[in-house]
Amino acid sequence: MTSIPPINPAYANPPEWLRESAPHVWLPYAQMQTVPMTLPAVKTDGVRITLEDGRALIDGISSWWTAAHGYNHPHIREAVTKQLEAMPHIMLGGFAHEQAFRLAKRLADILPGDLAHTFFSESGSVSVEIAMKIAVQYWINQGVRGRRHFLSFRGGYHGDTLGTMAVCDPDEGMHTLFKGIIPEHLLTDLPKAADAEEVFDTFLGKHANEVAAVVTEPLVQGAGGMVFHPPETLQILRRACDRHNVLLIVDEIFTGFGRTGTLFACDRAGIVPDILTLSKALTGGTMALATTTARPHVFEAFLSDDPAKALMHGPTYTGNPLACAAANASLDLFEREPRLDQVAAIEAQLTRELEPARAVSGVHDVRVLGAIGVIEVDSLKDTEWLKRRFIEEGVWIRPFANVIYTTPPLVIDPGDLSQLTGAMLKILDEWAKI
Ligand SMILES: Cc1ncc(COP(=O)(O)O)c(C=O)c1O
Repeated sequence: MTSIPPINPAYANPPEWLRESAPHVWLPYAQMQTVPMTLPAVKTDGVRITLEDGRALIDGISSWWTAAHGYNHPHIREAVTKQLEAMPHIMLGGFAHEQAFRLAKRLADILPGDLAHTFFSESGSVSVEIAMKIAVQYWINQGVRGRRHFLSFRGGYHGDTLGTMAVCDPDEGMHTLFKGIIPEHLLTDLPKAADAEEVFDTFLGKHANEVAAVVTEPLVQGAGGMVFHPPETLQILRRACDRHNVLLIVDEIFTGFGRTGTLFACDRAGIVPDILTLSKALTGGTMALATTTARPHVFEAFLSDDPAKALMHGPTYTGNPLACAAANASLDLFEREPRLDQVAAIEAQLTRELEPARAVSGVHDVRVLGAIGVIEVDSLKDTEWLKRRFIEEGVWIRPFANVIYTTPPLVIDPGDLSQLTGAMLKILDEWAKI
């Protein structure tokens, strides 16, 4: 094995505003001492991100899985512009406004089963925190004591805030450092095969009196390495939670809005969780917005003459009208445009075009689900080198852990998708020879 060849910096001549200001911005998931100069983006359109020097990259990641309709969709832009002119923000404590209220009703219409009562926040992590708070208080409000823990899964990821870190995989995730500081909950393997049901059921049964809720991602553990599990896993979780009277929280922040082939991943399994979280593609990648939606039996546990039984949570920007306008416009597009058919076509193309990667040395698995295409390798050597090579090839692919993956905008056309998969295969080949 030779050493990694030198490569041109991803961005040779950063503009003055970037050179001068770079030390003042603390970047996400970055070692600030060694992080390479970050790419100055000046414009987005459809599936393309234009850099300051005029180069355009085809986006294979959809800005962390948000830009379902591509960037700058005119329908969303018009809706947000109209709302901006009328009322950019108004506090939801005391005022109603059409965008948030209509959105909550529309979500109730399309979410699985009787999920019907939505609480708005601004980020996925916070929506999961709210789901966890709701679950704990659900039991307290009914006079049940001791249900203070959560059961979550190895490989799981639910956010970066302190509460959600406690339900992420404590060993494999990004939160290993905080062991001993964040509360310890129960952790086990996702029951992936029918014969795992009994083991899971026994484990949950043993701890049911201390567990407020089981928390899971449905069908895909995203940040945990794009690991898939079958719909039967969700059915096993639902049955076990019903049997042992434990709430089930399903985190559809990554999977929601078509990513896995159905509008929600729960649809494929035919299950209804007690609480479901959404964010990311909720606004079509335009604005920060997240939701926590509960079924009536959960919501009703908070109804009382006693004010202390209310859910005491209220982010300042809860139900922001601009974000809700973007989400309503995004839902219009899911209704009017053939997104799920596009996902089916993407799935077929990814399956076809990524298949040759199996023959490359060091490749451990190639898998596709909906608009998620994954090449898993034994171990990634230099993710920065890979990122830079992808940029040179005119695509934005961001490998992490041991996966080179794509989650393109759901509107990507076959030609652009082939450029993404072509670049993945080409650079994988180079990588295998290093
Ligand atoms: C399944 C899941 N839950 C929660 C989150 C956290 O969302 P946010 O980054 O908006 O806080 C993510 C983000 O990747 C996610 O994939």
